[in-house]
Amino acid sequence: DESFPHIFVVFGASGDLAKKKIYPTLWWLYRDNLLPKKTIFFGYARSSLTVREIREKCTPYMKVRPDEEQAYEDFWNINYYVSGAYDSRTDFEKLNQEMCTFENGLHANRLFYLALPPSAFQSVSVNIRNACMGQKGWNRIIVEKPFGKDAASSKALSDHLASLFKEEQLYRIDHYLGKEMVQNLMTIRFGNRIFNPTWNRENISSVLISFKEPFGTQGRGGYFDEFGIIRDVMQNHLLQILSLVAMEKPVTCHPDDIRDEKVKVLKSIKSLELDDCVLGQYVGNPDGKDDDAKMGYLDDPTVPAGSKTPTFALAVLQIKNERWDGVPFILRCGKALNERKAEVRIQYRDVPGDIFGGRSKRNEMVIRVQPGEALYVKMMTKSPGITFDMEETELDLTYNQRYKEINLPDAYERLILDVFCGSQMNFVRDDELSEAWRIFTPLLHHIENNDVQPIPYVHGSRGPKEADEKCDKSNFKYYGSYKWNNSKM
Ligand code: BG6
Repeated sequence: DESFPHIFVVFGASGDLAKKKIYPTLWWLYRDNLLPKKTIFFGYARSSLTVREIREKCTPYMKVRPDEEQAYEDFWNINYYVSGAYDSRTDFEKLNQEMCTFENGLHANRLFYLALPPSAFQSVSVNIRNACMGQKGWNRIIVEKPFGKDAASSKALSDHLASLFKEEQLYRIDHYLGKEMVQNLMTIRFGNRIFNPTWNRENISSVLISFKEPFGTQGRGGYFDEFGIIRDVMQNHLLQILSLVAMEKPVTCHPDDIRDEKVKVLKSIKSLELDDCVLGQYVGNPDGKDDDAKMGYLDDPTVPAGSKTPTFALAVLQIKNERWDGVPFILRCGKALNERKAEVRIQYRDVPGDIFGGRSKRNEMVIRVQPGEALYVKMMTKSPGITFDMEETELDLTYNQRYKEINLPDAYERLILDVFCGSQMNFVRDDELSEAWRIFTPLLHHIENNDVQPIPYVHGSRGPKEADEKCDKSNFKYYGSYKWNNSKM
């Protein structure tokens, strides 16, 4: 492929996602020489803009280092921009003609990134199909959430896409699948003899997968209110992690073998009910350290008055298969909490036949996704010295310590590169998506139809205390005695 032209088109080029994520990612990939040599970039949006103006919008996010100025100029020199309506076939034909002028040889490939509001999605995808498909190579379409709002709307969207493109042309992004420690789950589980034989209901008491953010909606309230934290983070990012933690070993590392296993484990999960959940919504903290902390969700001017949209959710999932029956999988996520963190905790059961008078604490394997990638196993040891006391300690793989020289690429960099390479391993397949919606739709409908009131929690807190109680009831023990050495992060 290397020597053929590759054209990467960003629809929604003037939007937030484009300037914060997509253009910076393209620049880093270009800078690091990871893209095929003859790659060029087209932006498309409604506003009449120039490449110069797009460049200015992106500037704060591009992180250009002093010695990269020339490469940075070169990058923008292979950027083009076409303005047009999202529903005008003529405008897409114009885009197509401009692209064709760069495709003089026998082969050329095209990538289309749909960074668009849902309202533009239908017409853009139809127009790509009718007017922009390259004739000299492959075409790949990258799509971003929201993939619908529930099972029915997601199915309508999938059917629509399936009527235009083949599944192997579609790349549904869940950027959590591009994170280092999420990608590491397969290796940790299936590349080690010590963990996998204990990875089951005989040994594990519960699994807690959490996502915490220390800030509120920050002006994104308009989008957020329509979706809520369950759709924004839980149904996609956390469920993806769950499926990689819980799936059976795939037959091979082929993307479809892996996705087959993910679908299989999702199929064993019961749909959620309200009783399985704790919902919360943050209120301002009058003593908060900045304006964001003082603002409650309902104080965000872009959030409708009286909204009951949850900004925090905890849900306990049950996997009804031979490996996991009876082991609660707890998903927990929230905005405006006490810290930024995403991690997986595999908590082991108490040691049977205790001889230590109840002093030993449960083992835990912690996979920290961010910040500061780490994998550590909490375990008991004899307190060192002339004593028979025991204490909690850890076997610790902290990346900043062990891999000092390594720069981990951003999730979007890996994923966009995967699209160039044609690897769908880290993208969501249509049947995976529909299983995910099956699990969450009844709950979401119940919440919305019954106007369920979320529990208030203070901005910057741990979330509603009912959530901690629910963890406790779900075989997850929190001792509060373990001290992690933070200086290493
Ligand atoms: C996005 C959500 O998908 O993920 C945001 O829409 C959230 O609400 C973000 O903030 C978190 O991503 P990351 O990579 O910063 O953990």
